Amino acid sequence: MRYGVFSDVHGNYEALKAVLEFYRKNAVTDFVCCGDVVGYGPQPQECADALRSLEKLHIVMGNHDAALAGKMETRWFNANAAWAIEFSRKVMSGQALAYVAALPERAETPDFTVVHGSPRKPLTEYMLSEGQFSDNLKGWSVSPCFVGHSHMPQYFREGPAGIPETDFLKPAVRVSAAHGKVMINPGSVGQPRDGDPRAACGIYDSGTKNFELYRVFYDVEKVQRMMEGLGMPALLAGRLSFGF
Ligand SMILES: [Fe+2]
Ligand SMILES: [Fe+2]
Repeated sequence: MRYGVFSDVHGNYEALKAVLEFYRKNAVTDFVCCGDVVGYGPQPQECADALRSLEKLHIVMGNHDAALAGKMETRWFNANAAWAIEFSRKVMSGQALAYVAALPERAETPDFTVVHGSPRKPLTEYMLSEGQFSDNLKGWSVSPCFVGHSHMPQYFREGPAGIPETDFLKPAVRVSAAHGKVMINPGSVGQPRDGDPRAACGIYDSGTKNFELYRVFYDVEKVQRMMEGLGMPALLAGRLSFGF
């Protein structure tokens, strides 16, 4: 089975549309989303609707989704992020809000595990270091574990002699989950932070146990014009040009 693995859509429907079109062209019909459907972007309703319409989707809740649902306080958010949560609350339908509020913090299938942050702290921990990977080896059993939250395409794995390894992911670099535990972050669809403004997404083949990252162009300026028209914070729009 080939799974389209993506994360951190953050209300950027133009980016999500481009990613779903990329998957359609590659005949991918099963999906994994590591959370943060809303926040930052101008079209949270459209993003929630698009995800709800995917028949085969394994999706978990992110911290922005939890804040929207009132399950997490926004005082830990920066001012722009908190603004975007309030904006999302105003523009989303009751049905879309209920969908986001009902997302689970963890998903597990015979092929993989999914959380937003980390297995031990699904809503808050940013997976960044090998040490954190070692500390998180307990608490999940099915590898790979797909994570999001940091917006950095990156993998972690148990290397030779049990020494953990990590590296950032670029297109055409394949990660194998065939041996030992592996954690994979597919980067962010709607707000990349690794210096590449293109939407990030991946494909995981559970037969070969290979994961590959892809970058997809979308109309960044169209989203920025939309954000300007809605009076959204300029910083949120500006950073999309640079992928930071
Ligand atoms: Fe995020
Ligand atoms: Fe997050």
